[in-house]
Amino acid sequence: FKSAGKRFRDFKIITLFFFFLSIRSLNMTVALKLLIYMDYNATTPMEPEVIQIISEALHEAWGNPSSNYITGVTAKAIIHQSRQSVARMVGGKAEDIVFTSGGTEANNLVLHTAVEHFRKSRGAEEHGEGHQNGRAGLPHIITSDVEHDSIRLTAKHLQAAGKADVTCVPVSKVTARVEVEDIVAAVRPNTCLVSVMLANNETGVVMPIPEICQRVKSLNKQHERLRILLHTDAAQALGKVPVDVQELGVDYLTIVGHKFYAPRTGALYVNGPGTTTPLYPMLFGGGQERNFRPGTENTPMIAGLGKAAELVTANLSSYQSHMLIIKAYLEERLQDVFRDKIRFNSHYPGSDVLPNTCNVSILGPALQGWRVLSNCRRLLASVGAACHSASGHRPSHILLSCGVPTEVAANALRLSVGRGTTKEDVDAVVEDLRETVELLEQMN
Ligand SMILES: Cc1ncc(COP(=O)(O)O)c(C=O)c1O
Repeated sequence: FKSAGKRFRDFKIITLFFFFLSIRSLNMTVALKLLIYMDYNATTPMEPEVIQIISEALHEAWGNPSSNYITGVTAKAIIHQSRQSVARMVGGKAEDIVFTSGGTEANNLVLHTAVEHFRKSRGAEEHGEGHQNGRAGLPHIITSDVEHDSIRLTAKHLQAAGKADVTCVPVSKVTARVEVEDIVAAVRPNTCLVSVMLANNETGVVMPIPEICQRVKSLNKQHERLRILLHTDAAQALGKVPVDVQELGVDYLTIVGHKFYAPRTGALYVNGPGTTTPLYPMLFGGGQERNFRPGTENTPMIAGLGKAAELVTANLSSYQSHMLIIKAYLEERLQDVFRDKIRFNSHYPGSDVLPNTCNVSILGPALQGWRVLSNCRRLLASVGAACHSASGHRPSHILLSCGVPTEVAANALRLSVGRGTTKEDVDAVVEDLRETVELLEQMN
């Protein structure tokens, strides 16, 4: 009888535990529904079709793609199809795609390759295979002062280690773009790489990559000149604006899955890797990715990347026009509510901006971006690049480089909309901001 009582008590405890657990997860679901995500430049959720294909690959294509029996062959076929889809998205050929873990690795691979390219071409000269043109010293890399940390810090590291000289060309304080003439003026005899992002992650400003490539290619035609390699990091542009490697004229282009509703994986486009364009591996191993990036392939994630690329190829214009409409509505509503109390940090004369990116400051002494966001009830956004969120409450160096005054940059909010953002979401976010600003002003 005693043990029956104990069993009943245990049953009650377990029932209560599950009851509280379900209430908690219900609250969580309700809370998540109330929240509005406007940080699509930080990352995007995966599309249902992408999740579906990943799940199928996990079930059916778990074999090692290098194996010759059925599970391996299936996996290899999936990887091949995905390579074609990713290539089609950027206007390249399947053999030009090298899968990587993500954008950081792809960017590192380009800088590493440039240094090796310089070293090898100098070695060839020293062995009498080329012309002597005084190319002693370090390889020289040109980039901009608004690049993602995976370029900026890699370049800085190469410089600190005495492996390269680096010029960070400042963006124009009028257009927030890297100007072509400034890139050309920075070229030296040892310049082996120009790496400029296609669109900035904080301002959304689109850089003049075709013009830069055209000018640098004409320099490359000069007799005895070391070939300057051309790279763009297209992480923020893919899935938002058309991206075509032929039109851009680049040798390398970085592809980052999690910015276009794919999983956390990526690729590097290389125009004829190892033949037309040098590519030197950072890793050595089992020969996968033609030895450019060995390591057993992550088939499910590669499958997801391919599916997300197919969606971009098929639907880009509707994604783009939806985001443009929503962003225009957001800016209009912000203007209506805050009038002369706001400044857009993503509006620059003569510059194109991504269709989804609105960088805005609400002016006032107590309205720093971090303070506003931490008091908002529904809005999920950021003050700048997610990878800088640990840098305290300092204003974004990118906005300062673009000529935004310090006190305005300190109040910046980066609102980036996505494929599914609605006008109702915008109304709710603007109302949330209005209430938050009112509260913070009363508290001040
Ligand atoms: C412009 C840019 N480049 C590169 C990256 C890095 O990509 P990943 O997160 O895949 O390493 C990001 C991601 O935040 C980015 O915004």
